[in-house]
Amino acid sequence: MILKPLPRVFSLLLLLPVRALAARPSIVPIGQGKTNATVGAINSPLAITPPVPVATATASGYFFAANATTSSAHPTHTSNATLPACKSVQYAFPSGTGGNATRAAAVKEAYQYAFNAYVEYAWGYDELQPLSKTGTNDWYGWGVTVVDGLDTAIVMNLTDEVSKMLGWIQTVDFTTTPDGDVEMFDITIRYLGGLLSSYDLLKSGQFYNGYDPDQIEALLTQAKTLADKLAYGFQTPTGIAAVDVDFSTNTPVEGTYTASNGVTYNSTNTASAGSFLLEWYRLAALTGNETYRSLVDTGEYYLVHPNPSPTYPGLVGTQFDTTAGGMLNFAGGWHSEVDSFLEYLIKSYHYKADNITEEYADFWLSAVKSTEAHIAVHPYGFDDLTFLSAMDTNGGLTYTMDDYSCFAGGNFLLGCKVLGMESLCDLGIAAADGCHQTYNTTTTGLGPLYWGWYDSDNTYPPDPTVDIDNGYRRNGAANGEFIVNGNEVYASFPESLESWFYAYRITGDPRWAEYGWDMFLSLNETARNSVAFATVNNVGMPWGESQSNSLDSFFFAEVLKYMYLMFAEPDIVDLGKWVFNTECHPIQVQCKA
Ligand SMILES: *[C@@H]1O[C@H](CO)[C@@H](O)[C@H](O)[C@H]1NC(C)=O
Ligand SMILES: *[C@@H]1O[C@H](CO)[C@@H](O)[C@H](O)[C@H]1NC(C)=O
Ligand SMILES: *[C@@H]1O[C@H](CO)[C@@H](O)[C@H](O)[C@H]1NC(C)=O
Ligand SMILES: *[C@@H]1O[C@H](CO)[C@@H](O)[C@H](O)[C@H]1NC(C)=O
Ligand SMILES: *[C@@H]1O[C@H](CO)[C@@H](O)[C@H](O)[C@H]1NC(C)=O
Ligand SMILES: *[C@@H]1O[C@H](CO)[C@@H](O)[C@H](O)[C@H]1NC(C)=O
Ligand SMILES: *[C@@H]1O[C@H](CO)[C@@H](O)[C@H](O)[C@H]1NC(C)=O
Ligand SMILES: *[C@@H]1O[C@H](CO)[C@@H](O)[C@H](O)[C@H]1NC(C)=O
Ligand SMILES: *[C@@H]1O[C@H](CO)[C@@H](O)[C@H](O)[C@H]1NC(C)=O
Ligand SMILES: *[C@@H]1O[C@H](CO)[C@@H](O)[C@H](O)[C@H]1NC(C)=O
Repeated sequence: MILKPLPRVFSLLLLLPVRALAARPSIVPIGQGKTNATVGAINSPLAITPPVPVATATASGYFFAANATTSSAHPTHTSNATLPACKSVQYAFPSGTGGNATRAAAVKEAYQYAFNAYVEYAWGYDELQPLSKTGTNDWYGWGVTVVDGLDTAIVMNLTDEVSKMLGWIQTVDFTTTPDGDVEMFDITIRYLGGLLSSYDLLKSGQFYNGYDPDQIEALLTQAKTLADKLAYGFQTPTGIAAVDVDFSTNTPVEGTYTASNGVTYNSTNTASAGSFLLEWYRLAALTGNETYRSLVDTGEYYLVHPNPSPTYPGLVGTQFDTTAGGMLNFAGGWHSEVDSFLEYLIKSYHYKADNITEEYADFWLSAVKSTEAHIAVHPYGFDDLTFLSAMDTNGGLTYTMDDYSCFAGGNFLLGCKVLGMESLCDLGIAAADGCHQTYNTTTTGLGPLYWGWYDSDNTYPPDPTVDIDNGYRRNGAANGEFIVNGNEVYASFPESLESWFYAYRITGDPRWAEYGWDMFLSLNETARNSVAFATVNNVGMPWGESQSNSLDSFFFAEVLKYMYLMFAEPDIVDLGKWVFNTECHPIQVQCKA
């Protein structure tokens, strides 16, 4: 997930306008600008020549929407015979082991508890406000909790809830909204991903699907209706998606970014621009309309041919110019505003290996190798602990990390199995453990939004020029607890849990499931209230100090799904046969079971 727009509390906290930031609004990195540039600053307007159609690209017709051919074929339903065998990604759990029905039932109870409150107080609104017991339309008024939460209910076999949700989705008009310009990124990952995933799960024959067949088909037709409106957002000179699209004029609405040369560019953050592959590929396959795929490969070209080159191969910055295609800063890493771009590179290859996705996988591998060599570091005093540092806009390490980066451990583990490169698994385990440390050192057992440390290479006491310490770096070195002041919130973050889920399914080591259960108990104690669940304001205080009035749709889509799947039988949503989008919506891998 994630430009998960930060919940309101973040914008107050950080004094950043939420709407100005596309996906996962970034937190102002502590220490930004304190480290001198390690690469040249951007000093001239960037222009790269439009992608020269290389033979492979031209042959497959992906890079130019105008050349895309459309056919009425349904490749998914007709090409089974030619599909490769599914890769074995998961640990071979002996039959009947790996799950825990008691725990799975507890997670299911939590879903029903929260969902019932949404139905009672906020049905049809986007999200429930669990303190005021009201509904709010913060995602265009199409009922995002329903669309985002449906596939979790399908996986849990909550048949009454699924019937109710399917009945609603059929009636939504996705072509219009009273709420202004429509954000490309979140609408793709939450709505499009939710619709396609529910469709795939119900059609797979692996889940109960005795619902109204018309309502099941409506999942796909609604996805197509929504995508045909979003498609206008790609009509920029490069094909890199604009931040928003105007549904009344059918035109892209550009965001802007002022680079270090003082020039303001039309710009989209990298995560927002690069997190379309899975949803749009799947839609192309299910409808037979290859334009959906060509639209998203066109802009992706610039992201995987960054100009100028990033400080370390693969670790691109957070902004790209939608007019000329250049990369606008060097703030690489796995954090907010880059995260799911990197995530989708390996996942698109897992979904379906071909000429184009092979190139994406190569780029992903270069980013992982750079990570291993340069930004996976040990905090001072904790040589066994690994954090992935964010980089600042000049390419220097900030020695800070946000929770969003915590998906990376699971992503390395998946890539390890998909590419058959065992060394990547070590990095994945180390990263997943690093994020666990941020949970098991707090009073509540939940992790914070943001943390920082002194690097192990620094002398101690540290160099005063990097000692911008508000106490947290010193506290981290002394106690292993690294929370940055003002960032103690837990707002239904799924990323650490996500990595523990991959670690459990891929290694079979039961300690990961224990981490998940510990987290469930913590959530149930501190985020639950007499209505539903809510955001916890301070993970370092008993009972989380207080709660905020929000329950994000990704609590249903991600937190409860990863949690449930950790305790369900491991062959339910097998990682070799399903690939999760960044909002935890499983999409069927193009392989033969
Ligand atoms: C940054 O560069 C300036 C000028 O070269 C130097 O005085 C300063 O110490 C450097 N700061 C850091 C943090 O390296
Ligand atoms: C693709 O379309 C563009 C623009 O219409 C055209 O200039 C180009 O020649 C086409 N390429 C191929 C391979 O057909
Ligand atoms: C399943 O979880 C319950 C609750 O945590 C625990 O008491 C039980 O030992 C677990 N069962 C197995 C087989 O691990
Ligand atoms: C799902 O629920 C339906 C209706 O209650 C039931 O018939 C079916 O057996 C359940 N399926 C599974 C896999 O539990
Ligand atoms: C394929 O999708 C594109 C993009 O939304 C749309 O413009 C086009 O009409 C679609 N083609 C068909 C045959 O539906
Ligand atoms: C931004 O996009 C608009 C519309 O395409 C264009 O007119 C303008 O020149 C662009 N600005 C820059 C700095 O590229
Ligand atoms: C590209 O894919 C096609 C089949 O889709 C294949 O025939 C061709 O060899 C591939 N080219 C490269 C360079 O891998
Ligand atoms: C906390 O988590 C880390 C990483 O998983 C682990 O190494 C450490 O032993 C844990 N500490 C406690 C007190 O459980
Ligand atoms: C979760 O909290 C509810 C309400 O306090 C409680 O009834 C339930 O037993 C808890 N679940 C677990 C597994 O502790
Ligand atoms: C595809 O193959 C799998 C396993 O070989 C089979 O279960 C499934 O029914 C097939 N699907 C179609 C559409 O033929």
